[in-house]
Amino acid sequence: MRIDILTLFPEMFQGPFSESIIKRAREKGAVELVCHNIRDYSTNKHKKVDDYAFSGGAGMVMQIEPIARLIEKLKAEREYDEIIYVTPDGSTLNQGIANQLSLKGNIMILCGHYKGVDQRVRDHYITMELSIGDYVLTGGELAAAVIADSVIRLIPGVISDETSALTDSFQDNLLAPPVYTRPADFNGWKVPDVLLSGDAKKIEAWKEEQAYKRTKERRPDLLG
Ligand code: ADE
Repeated sequence: MRIDILTLFPEMFQGPFSESIIKRAREKGAVELVCHNIRDYSTNKHKKVDDYAFSGGAGMVMQIEPIARLIEKLKAEREYDEIIYVTPDGSTLNQGIANQLSLKGNIMILCGHYKGVDQRVRDHYITMELSIGDYVLTGGELAAAVIADSVIRLIPGVISDETSALTDSFQDNLLAPPVYTRPADFNGWKVPDVLLSGDAKKIEAWKEEQAYKRTKERRPDLLG
């Protein structure tokens, strides 16, 4: 899979994409992540990428020309399955959307800033608009990093124990059950007996029951 990120702040991706699982996924070649600076595609002598809104009001709008130039260049190089714009007024990201995106070949993610991008970018290039929640960030970069992270970890082979991605919270509309590790007794705080019983069937039943209980308490909306 290839993910192209279109941003005014490519440095913001250096941290999140060069550690841990994402780093290994890149090294293994499971994902190619490429960040592009939209400013490099401005033909203005001051490298300007934004302007005042025709409607007036505070805040600048990202202009279509540099974005269009960059998108057209990338589209001429390969086909894209999805061109995503991250914006607080998009559909909210969830595990189902992450699953679908993990099956794609090439995707672009466009990060907005200021008052966002000229609507014509959205009308003519964007195929999917995603938000990561009902709050406003200073720009789309952190949202794009969240989306990319949620997708990359689902690409087959990225998480070594493949079943581990399948048992995540949300994967089957249930939150994950509690987990414990050694020591079995810490200052009298004990791990539930059933987990030490060695009885695989009983343990599975306990996990299911705990997942259901936790979901009912914390996220009853997931149970429908
Ligand atoms: N840009 C600013 N806030 C955002 C959010 N919550 N989701 C996606 N993109 C954003």
